[in-house]
Amino acid sequence: MSFDRSIKIAPSILSADFADFGREIQAIEAQGADWVHVDVMDGHFVPNLTFGPPLCKAIRPHIKTVMDVHLMISPVDQYIDAYAEAGADVITAHLEAGPHIHRTLQAIRGAGCKAGLALNPGTGIEQIDYLLDQLDLICVMTVNPGFGGQKFIHSQIDKVRKLRAMIGDRPIHIEIDGGITPETAPLMAAAGADVLVAGSAVFKGGSVTNPDVYGRNITAIRTAAEAARVKE
Ligand code: DX5
Ligand code: ZN
Repeated sequence: MSFDRSIKIAPSILSADFADFGREIQAIEAQGADWVHVDVMDGHFVPNLTFGPPLCKAIRPHIKTVMDVHLMISPVDQYIDAYAEAGADVITAHLEAGPHIHRTLQAIRGAGCKAGLALNPGTGIEQIDYLLDQLDLICVMTVNPGFGGQKFIHSQIDKVRKLRAMIGDRPIHIEIDGGITPETAPLMAAAGADVLVAGSAVFKGGSVTNPDVYGRNITAIRTAAEAARVKE
């Protein structure tokens, strides 16, 4: 995985047909997805359950781009190796998931993956200073994690601007997760984000038998985000 700050669209398969992940992934990648975002929920850290390492391993051969695993689980550390072995390229853990996030990030890199840190909307960025050297990605949640299709929380724009300044020249991605649409994507691109996760806004109206809709949805988000970048 090489590093750059170009806009990357990462469809979340939380909004895909759960009975057809293989073909859904092939469809979104054929339609321009840059990364594939995989939302892991434990029914404890967040009030919803999705899937675990065996599912990640099963879908891995279908992913030709980047497997971006977002762990909404607590505790995290004892599961890191399983997600690494399942083939994750990026593993993101939440700052709020436990008292030893520094250790968690070290363990993710130790397992051979890029290390991501997710922040809930109510979490500040003060602690990041001491974690910057351990990080490959910061995921700013623009909804409270747990469900797709929620409304974008605008207060997070300011957080992204501050994080972008804090990161400087370091090769750390800023990823946005939740409520991303062609209307909200430009706000985050202008503030300094480069990876845009989108679930409902990518999958709505399309299907594996009508994949062009996915392509149009991805293009609409990308075009709006790139236009906001140019204005910088
Ligand atoms: C929320 C998940 C998101 C979600 C985004 O807990 O982490 O990745 O799938 O869905 P949308 O784009 O519909 O808000
Ligand atoms: Zn996510």
